[in-house]
Amino acid sequence: MKTYKIVVLPGDGTGQEVMRESKNILRTATEVFGLDFEIIDIPCGKEYYKKTGREWPENAFQICKDESDAILFGAVGPTKKRPLEKPNEGSSMLFGLRFGLDLYANVRPTKLYPNVRHKISHKFKQVWEPGNVDFVVIRENTEGLYTPARGVLSRAENVEMAMDNRVITRKGAERVIKFAFEMAKRRKGTPIDGKKKVTCVDKSNVLQGCLLFRKVYDDVASDYSEIERDYAYVDAFAQWILRKPECYDVAVMPNMFGDIITDLAAVLQGGMGMATSGNIGDEHCMFEPVHGSSPKHAGKDIVNPIASILSLQMMLDWLGMKKNDHKLNKASKSIEMAVAKVLEEGKTLTYDLGGNAKCSEVGDAINAKIKNLS
Ligand code: IPM
Ligand code: MN
Repeated sequence: MKTYKIVVLPGDGTGQEVMRESKNILRTATEVFGLDFEIIDIPCGKEYYKKTGREWPENAFQICKDESDAILFGAVGPTKKRPLEKPNEGSSMLFGLRFGLDLYANVRPTKLYPNVRHKISHKFKQVWEPGNVDFVVIRENTEGLYTPARGVLSRAENVEMAMDNRVITRKGAERVIKFAFEMAKRRKGTPIDGKKKVTCVDKSNVLQGCLLFRKVYDDVASDYSEIERDYAYVDAFAQWILRKPECYDVAVMPNMFGDIITDLAAVLQGGMGMATSGNIGDEHCMFEPVHGSSPKHAGKDIVNPIASILSLQMMLDWLGMKKNDHKLNKASKSIEMAVAKVLEEGKTLTYDLGGNAKCSEVGDAINAKIKNLS
């Protein structure tokens, strides 16, 4: 039996709480599906910084790079204030991993599970039919506005001008767009008609980088004649995912657009407690809930662990495909089914989904379902 090495970076506050639940689920999946994992726990984040002056241990990046099959990330709070005068100083961990491991595709599924309400407004009663929201955003993750091509103009020690340059490269666009088309091949198409489709989301009516992004999209798309082409300007796309989410399957876009669109998209799937993500490159991968460490809820055992549990589920699915190990894919499917069942029954839900169960109770309920379903 192959042993998979998983680096676990729980981080701070609620990151630790949701990671505890994910690790319990991983333990259950290990037993039920006859898998074997070596877990490498690495402390990190704001608390670790307060004690040590570092965001994570000195050898942590090397372990992530050389000794892991996959990384599971919880959430970290900001460690230090980013100085206005020094534009390239800031958090080294998240970007250390995204850039350092070349995790160029940030995969963010937007799926509304049965019995979960969208979060558009408490007063807005309409609920989409289950299954009508099921698309995935592929956010470019290693360039765009997140490129460290920034600067300030200081005169007499006053910062008078600040500038962030957006970089779009052919290589960066091409690999992430290919990734999106490959993802579409594996999926079952749009909820409305089951047609496989990749939407290119850009602002090519104004921005030069977006013109290049769209050109590269067309070049890549010509190799995938079985997949429908679709184009949207990002401003219009923000409107269309609210009005007709059932028309989308896979959407690919530059970094910052993906950052904004996926917070909006989380509203369609029941909030940040349900939004998960995978940062994926050719050699490495890291999975994390989209939510942050949420310090005001920390230590109370009340936050929704499902985003984190679904990040574990994504990790197993991805590893299963990469390593050609069907047992991993079976474990992944069973976790997703267990989550869906717990949501559908509606007895054990955290506050954000209208219930009053604790974080650990939701984790336990999902665990029990995995055992029952197998
Ligand atoms: C996200 C987050 C990060 C980002 C922050 C924490 C730097 O918002 O993963 O979406 O902007 O990418
Ligand atoms: Mn974000």
